[in-house]
Amino acid sequence: MSETWNPTVGVIGAGTMGAGIAQVAAHAGLDVVLIDQAEDFVARGVRTITANLDRQVTKQSLTGAERDAILERISRGTTYERLAGCDVVVEAVNERIETKAGVFRAVAEVVGDDAVIASNTSSISITALAALVPQPERVAGMHFFNPVPVLKLVEVVRGLQTSDDTFGRIRTLAERMGKTPVDVADAPGFVANRVLMPMINEAIFCASEGVATYDAIDQVMKLGMAHPMGPLALADLIGLDVCLDIMQTLHRDLGEDKYRPAPLLRRLVAAGRLGRKSGEGFYRYDG
Ligand SMILES: NC(=O)c1ccc[n+]([C@@H]2O[C@H](COP(=O)([O-])OP(=O)(O)OC[C@H]3O[C@@H](n4cnc5c(N)ncnc54)[C@H](O)[C@@H]3O)[C@@H](O)[C@H]2O)c1
Repeated sequence: MSETWNPTVGVIGAGTMGAGIAQVAAHAGLDVVLIDQAEDFVARGVRTITANLDRQVTKQSLTGAERDAILERISRGTTYERLAGCDVVVEAVNERIETKAGVFRAVAEVVGDDAVIASNTSSISITALAALVPQPERVAGMHFFNPVPVLKLVEVVRGLQTSDDTFGRIRTLAERMGKTPVDVADAPGFVANRVLMPMINEAIFCASEGVATYDAIDQVMKLGMAHPMGPLALADLIGLDVCLDIMQTLHRDLGEDKYRPAPLLRRLVAAGRLGRKSGEGFYRYDG
């Protein structure tokens, strides 16, 4: 693998994270194959990418021709067969082990033996996902942060079976995409969500116990801790369903009640108030 490694990158799931990963990889000059379950979902992801790039054109940090070239590097589809020629596949489907298990098995059947299979999971065991495919040494975690085009961090997660070669390739790809890889071991929530999600969950308990209003809780953490966003606004950005899935994984896999998801979080998700992506979570988002 040379410094000029230019892998073709497959991205599965064109939602919040998958669209961002596809955008950044294509912006870095890599060919990308973006797939989702249905054409509508792929089209929605491409609309998000186009809107992001259009903003950069307006700000003159990108030319119209560069935007068009980035979009052209992203081929789209709805079947796993489209991933056949990919050197690396990053899955960014919903945070459910059953969903990811199905994706891992399907990907392993279509990609070449030397392709690396990575998961953008926030909390699910890379070791458990690797165990689902032949040659588990080619599986690693590649955990990007939201919004992907803005945030520099990628947690690179080494499962029990991950080979040095696979780990090195994922680190190299992260750097090739302009990101800073940080090595972490395979443990529930890795580092970022092990620390962040209990804080968000506690903020939700505070809100439901009437300790302060949503806005006041966010103000406390912004003004007192110099956080760029309050925890409830951040939860809306991440997606309340994603927050709930991560808390459930921490609770189950670490086995301690301090990770119990706040009932208010469950209620909001049950009501379909998922945050920014559904137009309402703790706050309302118009347009
Ligand atoms: N949202 C965040 O802030 C964030 C941050 C870091 C990591 N993550 C992780 O990234 C992953 C995706 O999260 P998201 O927020 O982008 O979710 P999302 O709900 O925005 O998008 C998920 C996408 O996956 C698609 N999908 C589901 N099953 C599929 C399948 N079998 N084949 C192809 N596509 C399928 C869905 O149609 C949807 O478009 C999760 O594992 C999550 O934990 C999320």
